[in-house]
Amino acid sequence: MTTQLSPKTTTRRPAVKKIHPDVPVNQILRGDCVAVMNSLPPKCADLVFADPPYNMQLGGDLWRPNMTKVDAVTDPWDKFKSFAEYDSFTRAWLTAARRVLKDTGTLWVIGSYHNIYRVGSVMMDVGYWMLNDICWVKANPTPQMKGTRFCNAHETLLWAKKSADQKKYTFHYRELKAGNDDKQMRSDWYVPICSGREREQRNGKKAHTTQKPEALMHRVIAATTNPGDLVLDPFCGTGTTAAVAKRLGRNYITIDREGDYIEVAEKRLANISPALLTSPDEHGILLGGPKPRIPFVSFVESGILPTGSALRLKGTTIFGCIHADGTLTAGGHRGSIHKVSAVLLGLPTSNGWTAWLYTDRLTGEERLLDALRPGA
Ligand SMILES: C[S@@+](CC[C@H](N)C(=O)[O-])C[C@H]1O[C@@H](n2cnc3c(N)ncnc32)[C@H](O)[C@@H]1O
Repeated sequence: MTTQLSPKTTTRRPAVKKIHPDVPVNQILRGDCVAVMNSLPPKCADLVFADPPYNMQLGGDLWRPNMTKVDAVTDPWDKFKSFAEYDSFTRAWLTAARRVLKDTGTLWVIGSYHNIYRVGSVMMDVGYWMLNDICWVKANPTPQMKGTRFCNAHETLLWAKKSADQKKYTFHYRELKAGNDDKQMRSDWYVPICSGREREQRNGKKAHTTQKPEALMHRVIAATTNPGDLVLDPFCGTGTTAAVAKRLGRNYITIDREGDYIEVAEKRLANISPALLTSPDEHGILLGGPKPRIPFVSFVESGILPTGSALRLKGTTIFGCIHADGTLTAGGHRGSIHKVSAVLLGLPTSNGWTAWLYTDRLTGEERLLDALRPGA
């Protein structure tokens, strides 16, 4: 039996939303993030995502066994004289972010063991209410060179609402579950670090030491905003948040003090086109197997099966369209690859991995989704 879930939680809001006329929407602003946020109208942002300085306090260079230098975070923007100075900076930007957040908005902050405990404590002090701490498990972490500690293989993302009594905020629980092969999305996320061609370059070198992977931002933005929402990132860097927001049909504002990073982010954003499929008519009705090794949504997040691309139901001429959250719409139904194929084939259950075909971008050949999974 397939369960039809109420469409209440689907993303049905229009992609074009009313945004305060004084908001410099879809822009990268140069300046100190506290001053810039304080210049914006209050309660204008649906989501704040922040990747603040880590305050790593690194002393001396780090070397690999083959005597190449590790590209560590030693940038001037990451230096603070003391914990007290870092805490006071943290308090200032978290307070400014809370002022610009709508009463239905939420805040995400990413950090490492160097700063996340201090940031979390200040977040609670200024009034935010924790919803989750997500463990971003790095599929390919940098090894611990000195052999004196465990290899640091994760970062933490704190997700919070504005206050304890805030009733409403955006969380696409059902879509996330459907995109995760009908299992609840958990708080441990396995995502590779940003590397290879994804790394922004400037003058032939890595443009930024702490560029975050787009796949990570994809999950955050798809899970906790709607098309047309305004996403604000006070620490732009190479513009990862803005890039993913634009691709997913969200609006953005992002801020950085450094002109060089802004230049990189501007170029990056100019090359991004919003994904297909943000029209509410195409969303369909959300419908409510053996454990897969990789959730279907991972292929969407990593761009292997881009948002808006098509799958064909094997043995039919029925096409489905992939959403940012890993759900599929076909024949007026929306849900996991499994539920949608089951309902279209009139079966009680179906294995979506062997029911749907995708088109290989290199060869143009149709292949079963199952071929994408390791060991298939
Ligand atoms: C950790 S990095 C963000 C990296 C980004 N998430 C990315 O994927 O490229 C922090 C950024 O914040 C900027 N920054 C630091 N302090 C700032 C401040 N007070 N106001 C605005 N930007 C600041 C730095 O220049 C740096 O680019």
